[in-house]
Amino acid sequence: MPPADETSAVATAGGGPAADGAPDARALRSALGRFATGVTIITCVDTAGTRTGLTANSFGALSLDPPLVLWSLRRASPSLEAFEAASHFAVNVLAESQVELSRRFAVRGPAATAGAGADSEHRFDVGEWTSGLGGAPVLAGCAAVFECRRVAAHDGGDHRLFIGRVLRLADIATAPLVFQGGRYHMLGEVL
Ligand SMILES: Cc1cc2nc3c(=O)[nH]c(=O)nc-3n(C[C@H](O)[C@H](O)[C@H](O)COP(=O)(O)O)c2cc1C
Repeated sequence: MPPADETSAVATAGGGPAADGAPDARALRSALGRFATGVTIITCVDTAGTRTGLTANSFGALSLDPPLVLWSLRRASPSLEAFEAASHFAVNVLAESQVELSRRFAVRGPAATAGAGADSEHRFDVGEWTSGLGGAPVLAGCAAVFECRRVAAHDGGDHRLFIGRVLRLADIATAPLVFQGGRYHMLGEVL
């Protein structure tokens, strides 16, 4: 990765507003990548009981009272149908030791052409998974888990926004995995 000042120069040069005021896609991705996030695997079961899950960093807090969280899923995802049908989803916040699981659940496989089911199940071959509320798979060893009932879903451009009410949570004192600038990181020093 180039030093930050070089990257900024590229982004500034190539990412200025176009005639219609919209940044180009590359500049938008680069700027969004400056925002450091945690990493989650969000899961559900579809109507046939098949487990579905993917790596997501769009997760965020929405409300404390009532307890609501949100995340978004690419509308073209083969996992969309399962999340639309599922009553519940689980947000598994990954620990830094779980980076390989993050990679595993981010690989687009045959599901993209052959339907989500078989490929989604295959992703769960690694890791210690149990069935949580509404059947949504819960991963052992996470930094946190939010088990949610889906309360709303909205279109948002090329993504679908899901909002869930937190019904049960786990909060474990272990270092969370960090994602920034398109790379995985460990937490740095406390300022
Ligand atoms: C760190 C990271 C965060 C991601 N966040 C999201 C996300 O919030 N929403 C999304 O739709 N895809 C996200 N992705 C991409 C999906 O994990 C990837 O496209 C995966 O193949 C989706 O599963 P699917 O093939 O079943 O759709 C992310 C990938 C990575 C590596």
